[in-house]
Amino acid sequence: MARLHITGGSALTGTVKISGAKNAAVAMIPAALLTEAPVRIDNLPDIKDIRVLVEILKYLGVKVIWQSPSALAIDPSSLNRWQPPYDLVKMLRASYYFLGALVGRYGRAEVPVPGGCDLGPRPIDQHIKGLAALGADVNVEHGLIKVEAKKLKGTNIYLDVVSVGATINIMLAATRAEGKTVIENAAKEPEIVDVANFLNAMGAKIRGAGTDVIRITGVDNLGPVTHTVIPDRIEAGTYMIAAAATGGDVVLQDVIPKHLDPITAKLREMEIEVEEAGDKIRVLGNTYPAAADIKTFPYPGFPTDLQSLSMVLLTQAEGNSVITENVFENRFKHVDELKRMGAKIKVEGRTALIEGRTRLTGAPVKACDLRAGAAFIIAGLIAEGETVISDINHIYRGYEKICEKMAALGAQIKEIE
Ligand code: UD1
Repeated sequence: MARLHITGGSALTGTVKISGAKNAAVAMIPAALLTEAPVRIDNLPDIKDIRVLVEILKYLGVKVIWQSPSALAIDPSSLNRWQPPYDLVKMLRASYYFLGALVGRYGRAEVPVPGGCDLGPRPIDQHIKGLAALGADVNVEHGLIKVEAKKLKGTNIYLDVVSVGATINIMLAATRAEGKTVIENAAKEPEIVDVANFLNAMGAKIRGAGTDVIRITGVDNLGPVTHTVIPDRIEAGTYMIAAAATGGDVVLQDVIPKHLDPITAKLREMEIEVEEAGDKIRVLGNTYPAAADIKTFPYPGFPTDLQSLSMVLLTQAEGNSVITENVFENRFKHVDELKRMGAKIKVEGRTALIEGRTRLTGAPVKACDLRAGAAFIIAGLIAEGETVISDINHIYRGYEKICEKMAALGAQIKEIE
């Protein structure tokens, strides 16, 4: 199995181009099934999750052609199955979007309970509640979520928790339901807005995406679409934090600075310089960043996906910091690995206390999930000596060419067997 070998000590400098947003793209590929007309998606990130979803489309009978490494043409007219296979579905969380998309188009879906990163319990009760409220019969048996509906009917759905996945899944199904659906307490992430724009460009009638009330008027048919995925704010945040942690000077190209506000604000609070200009952001590291407390929340709060990465940065801050993880119950699995590198972190429930100005030393570590893997890369960059990261498949699920991009910024990083 390949591993990543990092020699610490280099400050990152230069320019990095940010890829398309994973969490928008992984919803659009299943969402393409809602139409029978041609779909083209540009600016797709070249990552494993996308390749798995494309394999699922092929299995379902859909024709797909890669027009470039980031542009996919999908012909959903030949869809002839509604049961994505377990071996592919278990590889990523976002396969739950086949529920909303297939039941919207086909009236039925049988999707194995999805896999993805282990962040503690990740129920999908809100997805099920939403689909059932739209009139579908939903049963979970033998590891399969079976959804069936002769005709979906629009209704009011109030989400008990703010969920990105449930908001998008209900939006997909409601697009082809009869009448009006209102999703209240909806998630507001930019990826949700991008998926709504994608569907509206096909002829869907979705209003309010990006606020906590989304109104959808169902339509009988959807047409063709060509859509460009928004930039990945989590990938961007990763390079911002890496630049800050290494005391570097990095320009990120092709970003939407507004989407990065929660990260920019926190870095500035840590006395790290962040400059915005058009679709670029420049981060200038500070050898002794100020300590800061971070609380993760749904957008526009600080993203949980950057929690482990910012923890690495805080090990270098002047003083102690506190991170509170409010989105996932058990997202501190990276802490034990960081401690093996010398970090001094105490976890109590959903709170972690991080001691600043800690000397990190290279060590073998295991990427326990996608974002933790990226956190270990940053830890390796600032640690003394060599770090070897195993289980890097998790990292490749969500980061396009991370080794090449980091190396181009001066990181001493390479893949080894
Ligand atoms: C998405 C993102 C993931 C990010 C997360 C939170 C994708 C593919 N993944 O994951 O990168 O970390 O949002 O920003 O977009 N919950 C329930 N019941 C449900 C659904 C969720 O209780 O039916 C809970 C979850 O356990 C969690 C919280 O709601 O505590 C938020 O989860 P959610 O927003 O649904 O995360 P995902 O969509 O899985």
